[in-house]
Amino acid sequence: MSQLLAIIGGSGFAELPEFELISRHEIETPFGSPSAPVMDGLLNGCRILLLPRHGLAHQFAPHKINYRANLWALHSLGCSRIIAVAAVGGIHLDCAPGKLVLPDQLIDYTWGRESSFFSDQFSADRHIDFTWPYDEALRNELMNAAQLCELEIRPAGTYGATQGPRLETAAEIARLARDGCDLVGMTGMPEAVLARELNLPYACCAVVANYAAGLSDKTLSMSEIERTLAGSMEQVYRLINCYTQR
Ligand code: HPA
Repeated sequence: MSQLLAIIGGSGFAELPEFELISRHEIETPFGSPSAPVMDGLLNGCRILLLPRHGLAHQFAPHKINYRANLWALHSLGCSRIIAVAAVGGIHLDCAPGKLVLPDQLIDYTWGRESSFFSDQFSADRHIDFTWPYDEALRNELMNAAQLCELEIRPAGTYGATQGPRLETAAEIARLARDGCDLVGMTGMPEAVLARELNLPYACCAVVANYAAGLSDKTLSMSEIERTLAGSMEQVYRLINCYTQR
């Protein structure tokens, strides 16, 4: 199949209503096991692959996810593009809880994560171009799909990838804001760069779960974050439905 979409689901995105499961792939990769078996099935008659980034029981913290195994597994199944769904904190005032954003840039603040397939067999040509970390054509297709289904989506933004699993301090968020980050999340890297190393078009549908630390009077609570995400997932389903029906 020439066009096979994979969706990497994040916190709050456990399943896709109307997804018809055909098979589950238990895959071992040269980099170990992915977070879960890859689900293979149909959405609106369109074959897609689904992988829950944090595992079926949400057992992998952001810094413990085997990103290399996840990306390798999808690639080995013939995937040709990836939509990553990711919960984030909003930094820019436009990025209020409940909003969807399609980031076009990122800044990586993570550390100690395996961030290349070539770590052990490096050569000069492995310094890949990453000027624009998200695939422009895929972002445009998603923006068109959002327009078709009359969904409001912020068409750009800079994603700051932090290490987690704790949330940030107010000073860290102030620094990210000064750096130009509009959003903060814990899983955006190395996922995006590993997709690029495999030449897989990759875009991120970020779902704002909360205002980032220090930007509202409220103490951040997981139950509130989960409530907001649950309310926004319907929009993500609509977007993906529309995208697969084009
Ligand atoms: N910070 C980092 N990651 C997140 C946040 C946040 O505030 N909310 C959801 N994921």
